[in-house]
Amino acid sequence: MIKEYTKEEIICLLSDEKNETSLLKQADAVRHQYVGDEVHLRGLIEFSNICRNNCQYCGLQRDNKILPRYHMEEDELLQTAQNAVNMGFKTLVLQSGEDMYYTQARMCRIIEQIKKNDVALTLSIGERDYTDYKAFYEAGADRYLIRIETTDQNLYHQLDPGMNWQRRHECLLMLKEIGYELGSGIMVGLPNQTLDSIADDLLYLQKIEVDMAGIGPFIPHPQTPLKNANGNNLHLALRTMAMMRLMLPDINIPATTAMESLHPRGRIMALQGGANVVMPNVTEGEYRRLYELYPNKACVDDTPLHCRTCIGMKITAIGRTIGQGYGGHKK
Ligand code: 5AD
Ligand code: FES
Repeated sequence: MIKEYTKEEIICLLSDEKNETSLLKQADAVRHQYVGDEVHLRGLIEFSNICRNNCQYCGLQRDNKILPRYHMEEDELLQTAQNAVNMGFKTLVLQSGEDMYYTQARMCRIIEQIKKNDVALTLSIGERDYTDYKAFYEAGADRYLIRIETTDQNLYHQLDPGMNWQRRHECLLMLKEIGYELGSGIMVGLPNQTLDSIADDLLYLQKIEVDMAGIGPFIPHPQTPLKNANGNNLHLALRTMAMMRLMLPDINIPATTAMESLHPRGRIMALQGGANVVMPNVTEGEYRRLYELYPNKACVDDTPLHCRTCIGMKITAIGRTIGQGYGGHKK
């Protein structure tokens, strides 16, 4: 039987640096028991770095005027998706800033084309209205990924005064109601974020019953107002991720790119501490560098094929296998 954790217990485990190894070990055992040894790969396509929002932590924030902006054209995106399918990915993730060039009609056309292949499709394109979410789902999208980022509403509004926490929360509820498999998650180590607040985040993700939870360390970006903030707390992110596994034993949990960006073995540490998913970047050419959410992002100089091969070898080297199915949440 799985244990219910109280907020006090969560805070205690998150703060316990010296027992991190045993926490990660316990999460690894729960992962093995509930979701097995397969690691599911998702091919991540970063198709636009244009964003209407101004999140203070994010390198793609609209006030970052130095960053060259791009969006792939429809045919380019479809070609990238086709290449990823040909490489054997069973899930593709389409991710972008909130770029309204991708209208409902345009997104639906893309979804329908991609879904002619034998793949699960995840969208990660931010906040849209109900009719868009519904239309994307009806066009064939299977999953939606939108992090809540933090459940501390004051902090959320500090980080982007133009955004609204309640609205984001409602996006998550709508997506769930429509029938998507729901992915969410948080950043760890944000300025003014407390362990108390991270414990609330974990309880929130548990309460709304996410199917997937991505947890990454906040990494300050030099072209943002938070450039001098603290962050880079890989170990707290790993403990938070391990706690998530203990609290939601059968969900999908990715070893995040942000973890890899702070440590060359970041994703392996995550896979051995509760994670069961990796999202290799299959974006091609110079777009990879331009999708700079945070500095020193892992793999920006590599090719899709290099990453697929590299991660495949790392996964088998730790005695795990590559998932052969769609790797959806099995309840
Ligand atoms: N450091 C770490 N993660 C970041 N993200 C955005 N900016 C940063 C940063 N500076 C994360 C957010 C977002 C996801 C796509 O990337 O959690 O949801
Ligand atoms: Fe990209 Fe290893 S996964 S280089």
